[in-house]
Amino acid sequence: MNVLVVGGGGREHALAWRLAQSQRVARVYVAPGNAGTATEEGCYNVDVSGNEALLDFARREAISLTVVGPEAPLSGGLVDTFRAAGQRIFGPTRHCARLESSKEYAKDFMLRHAIPTAHHRSFSDADQADAYLRERGAPIVIKADGLAAGKGVVVAMTLDEAHDAVDRMLRQGGLGTAGARVVIEEFLEGEEASFIVLVDGRNVLALASSQDHKRLLDGDRGPNTGGMGAYSPAPVLTPALHARAMREVIAPAVAGMAAEGEPYTGFLYAGLMIQPDGQMKVLEFNCRLGDPETQPILLRLKSDLFTLLQHGVAGTLDRAEALWDRRVALGVVMAAEGYPDSPVRGARIHGIPVPAEDLHVFHAGTVQEGDAVLVQGGRVLCVTALGDTARLAQRRAYAAAQQIEFAGRQMRSDIGHRAVSARRIPL
Ligand code: AMP
Ligand code: GLY
Repeated sequence: MNVLVVGGGGREHALAWRLAQSQRVARVYVAPGNAGTATEEGCYNVDVSGNEALLDFARREAISLTVVGPEAPLSGGLVDTFRAAGQRIFGPTRHCARLESSKEYAKDFMLRHAIPTAHHRSFSDADQADAYLRERGAPIVIKADGLAAGKGVVVAMTLDEAHDAVDRMLRQGGLGTAGARVVIEEFLEGEEASFIVLVDGRNVLALASSQDHKRLLDGDRGPNTGGMGAYSPAPVLTPALHARAMREVIAPAVAGMAAEGEPYTGFLYAGLMIQPDGQMKVLEFNCRLGDPETQPILLRLKSDLFTLLQHGVAGTLDRAEALWDRRVALGVVMAAEGYPDSPVRGARIHGIPVPAEDLHVFHAGTVQEGDAVLVQGGRVLCVTALGDTARLAQRRAYAAAQQIEFAGRQMRSDIGHRAVSARRIPL
């Protein structure tokens, strides 16, 4: 059978790679893919985009299942288009994707269904927002309502920073329509974890837990990014907290969507804050897999991914089981010079190691030009390795990453520091 993966980042490379390993899959098309999916056995990049063009392609190539990586096509209604035409696709509808594409919708949904989350108020008037900030004080968090490619959240440690964020989003329109409304929410302390599940409308299958590092620099400092590295499992999500996440967050979200007449299908990602007193609160919902969390998660997946996705589309996830490698997987992101603000393209990449049983280099912002692989985007590669312990996975990933060279490369030296006692790997 042929499958189609929509997207071109590291998450999509990992999806395509795993799907291509299925005995039941003949060809994996990736739209548009990257230099990694271009050379992966069984994978074929196709330059197709837009709902109608993707639908035409799926029909023409007899695609039996499509899976969508990024949020933009989901909030653009790709799943609705495919479903209306009777094409099998795994992902949320445009309506359900609002859990990610509108922070205000997500917060109100959580309130309606008693899902634990930070207190908040929403504003489109800058003066009212400023008055609320003065009333609440810092630290406080300001979030653009709409999709802002990772730039829409300001964790303000001072009131000045908070007022600046309101100025930028509401007065100057710095984020366009995405920032024309803001959610201002209570600052939460604690440790974050990513909890991602498959949902078929009713049934849920949990993936292995993970944690990512959002900040650019060592010690979780510097600007927020899409994610500079991740590992699975997340030690903070003990079996008891895992059970609570299913009971207090995922189950009410899935039941709530169904009760509101819009059953949720696809991957559902809950960004959780585990507070020092053991409380668990939802920071955000994403309507897709995380990037880079997917890379370590899928490196650990032992079950057939195609079969799991088929259960997701057929509504039979209650009969599916996901088996995991007991080892820890850890992925180190290598980013382009200038990332995240103004990534520089065009550098030639050297020294990517060949894959091994315990190592895979997933591509993101790369492009093949003749024999050369060039930097094409902000996050370039995610070097992902398995090890019996977090420390061994970290060592293996960094040993491979250090062989890879390109001008201006950026990577953190401490990915996984919460999972290992040693804080740094000398670069
Ligand atoms: P979000 O896109 O909502 O997950 O926000 C991006 C990042 O900002 C999160 O991963 C957290 O590190 C941080 N963040 C978001 N909301 C809060 C909050 N209420 N308190 C503290 N940090 C937050
Ligand atoms: N790594 C965070 C995300 O995918 O949203």
